[in-house]
Amino acid sequence: MTRRILEHGLELVQDFCEAEVWPDELPPSREQILKHVVSVDGLLCLLTDRIDAEVMDAAGPGLKVISNHAVGVDNVEVAAATARGIPVGNTPDILTDATADMAFALLLAAARRVVEGAWLVKAGGWKTWGPGFMLGADLTGATLGIVGFGRIGRAVARRASGFGLRILFTDPSPALPEQGVNTMQVDFETLLQESDFVSLHTPLTDQTRGLINADTLKRMKPTAVLINTSRGPVVDQEALFAALQSHQIFAAALDVTVPEPLPMDHPLLGLDNCIIVPHIASASWRTRQNMSLMAAENLIAGLKGERLPHCVNPEVYKE
Ligand code: GLV
Repeated sequence: MTRRILEHGLELVQDFCEAEVWPDELPPSREQILKHVVSVDGLLCLLTDRIDAEVMDAAGPGLKVISNHAVGVDNVEVAAATARGIPVGNTPDILTDATADMAFALLLAAARRVVEGAWLVKAGGWKTWGPGFMLGADLTGATLGIVGFGRIGRAVARRASGFGLRILFTDPSPALPEQGVNTMQVDFETLLQESDFVSLHTPLTDQTRGLINADTLKRMKPTAVLINTSRGPVVDQEALFAALQSHQIFAAALDVTVPEPLPMDHPLLGLDNCIIVPHIASASWRTRQNMSLMAAENLIAGLKGERLPHCVNPEVYKE
């Protein structure tokens, strides 16, 4: 296990097998992973660990399962695992609401300048109540564009509906509407042009890397707010910095960046219209306990030679 996970899952694993748990707060280095993985039967890893063919080969032919403590699996070279017949587990569903909550918290915070206002108060900048002081964006009647209409995108739509937002979405496949919520599937171009808020809910793939770039930012409204709770590389940060600095768009709020953590001298940190939080969308008490349990259950099923309850490459079972 490349880190200590919350106790429900940790205890389950420790009761089942001999578990070597990386004890530090910071992740193991590449060298440490390559060293400690030798001859393990199963690997429980985090999104901070790059698990590629080299790691799998260092583990050796006994490696029966890779259980990722995250829903996103872009840190795991899934094709390499499939080629070796190794099932890869993830933690879907249980973090949907927590992540959608965070997307919405960021949306509201950026729209109404909550973080900027809080800093201003602490810095002694609150002089008086002013008619034009710290104005932000209205939600009611505005348009939200959801990029990726999977579980989390849909959960964001449910929240947005309560705030009176008009909801557009894009998805690579024709998606069923979310019951009880008014939504419209549009092309990406229309979404960029019409949305006051653009929220990203795609996995990181070759198709989504750099999806928000200088070109796509140009098509957004000057009043637009960008929210990213997906993966950092979906946004070209240099282009985003330029767009925010020149007020080509109004604001951005990011839970994910490149790299993570973002270095203290990164230009995005100097902008008032950019909120950055440290990849905490799934960080609620119940969600993280459930993630630890699900990651443990996937690991244990794999060690027993059983089908993983949540497997991202089920084709390994078809041979
Ligand atoms: C978090 O980012 C996850 O993919 O679970």
